[in-house]
Amino acid sequence: MRIGILTSGGDCAGLNAVMQGFVKTITLLNSRVEIYGIANGYGGLISGEYKVLKPEDFYDILKLGGTILGTSRQSYKKIIQKNENDKAAKMRENYKKMRLDVLIVLGGQGTHKTAAFLASEGLNIIALPKTIDNDIFGTDFTFGFHTAVNVATECIDKVETTAASHGRIMLVEIMGNKVGWLALYAGMASSADVILIPEIPYNTESVINAAKAAKKQKGYCIIVVAEGAIDKEEALFTKKNRTQKRIENGKANASGKIAKAIEEKLGVETRVTVPGYIQRGGSPNAYDRVICMQMGAFAAKLAQERKYGVTVALNHGKMTCRHLADVAGKTKSVPPKHEMIRAAKDTGISFGE
Ligand code: F6P
Repeated sequence: MRIGILTSGGDCAGLNAVMQGFVKTITLLNSRVEIYGIANGYGGLISGEYKVLKPEDFYDILKLGGTILGTSRQSYKKIIQKNENDKAAKMRENYKKMRLDVLIVLGGQGTHKTAAFLASEGLNIIALPKTIDNDIFGTDFTFGFHTAVNVATECIDKVETTAASHGRIMLVEIMGNKVGWLALYAGMASSADVILIPEIPYNTESVINAAKAAKKQKGYCIIVVAEGAIDKEEALFTKKNRTQKRIENGKANASGKIAKAIEEKLGVETRVTVPGYIQRGGSPNAYDRVICMQMGAFAAKLAQERKYGVTVALNHGKMTCRHLADVAGKTKSVPPKHEMIRAAKDTGISFGE
C-alpha cells in the first residue's frame, strides 16, 4: 500500500502524535506499506516536494510539537481555479506520480474543503480533524484544542496574579477568529469575569459595567476576549468593513478597542496580553495525545478497509468517520444557548450582552 501523508493549515500540538498513531497501526495491519511524506501541506503536493519515509521516522514523535512534515496555508479558491496554473491538476499529477493508494490529510476547515474537492476529483482521501479552534463540523473535539485550552488557561492564570497585585483590569486575547470555543473553555477554566466570543456580540457599556463590578468586588478584573469578538454595532457590518472601521479608529484588534473604552470610562489601569502562537506550540497534553493516537489508529483501519472520502470524527466519545462532503464548508460555532454558556452565566461570568 502506497500512502501519502501531509499536514496542512495552521499547525497545532498533536500533528506528530496522530501520524505516529497512524503509521504504527498501519504497519502492524499491513506488512507492505510505503510512506510518502509530503512537505508543507498541499504546497508540497502541488510542487511535488515529497520523500519516502521509513515507518521508524514516525515512531518516536508523539510528544513533539509542530509537524515533522512542515505545513502551509493554501487558498481553496486558488486551488479550484481552472487556469494555466491549475493547482488541482498538479496535485492529481503528483498523486499519480507517487502512485498513491491513499492520501492522509491532517488539517482544519480549509484543508477539509480541499480534501472534499480532491475526493470528488477521484483521489482516495482520509482526513483527520486538526485545529486549536475546535470548529470542524461533526466531531466532538479536534485534536490540538485541549492543549491550547491548557496553554491559554495557564496564561490567563498568570495574568490574574499580576492583575491582582496592581489592581488592574486585564484583557487576554485568545485565538479564535470565527469561533469562541477556545476563549470559552479557557475563560471558564480560569474563572474569568468576562468572556467575549464572536458568536455573542457584546455591548461595550455592559463590558465596562462588568469590569467595574469585578474591580469593586475583588480589586481587579479579568476579561477573556476571543480574537474575533465583535460588538453589537460591528455585528451589523461585513468582516471587511469591520476591520476597516477598526483601523480608522486606531485599534485593529478587539481587545485593544475594549481596553481603550474601559480606561477612558473608568480611569483604571487596563492592559492587554496576547499569548498568540504560544497556544499552537509545544507538546500535546495527555488528553490530546490519547485522542491523537486513537484518531491515527482509526484512520489506519479506514485505510486498510479502503474506506475513502471520509474524515475521522469523535462522536459522543466514540471514534467514527464522516463523509468529507458532509463536513467540508461547515463551521461548528458555539451555540449562544450552549449549556457551557448557561453554566458560565449561572456562575456570574458576563458575556457583555
Ligand atoms: O489555526 C487556527 C488559528 O490559530 C486561528 O485561531 C487564528 O485566527 C489563525 O489560525 C492564525 O492564522 P495564521 O497562522 O495564518 O497567522
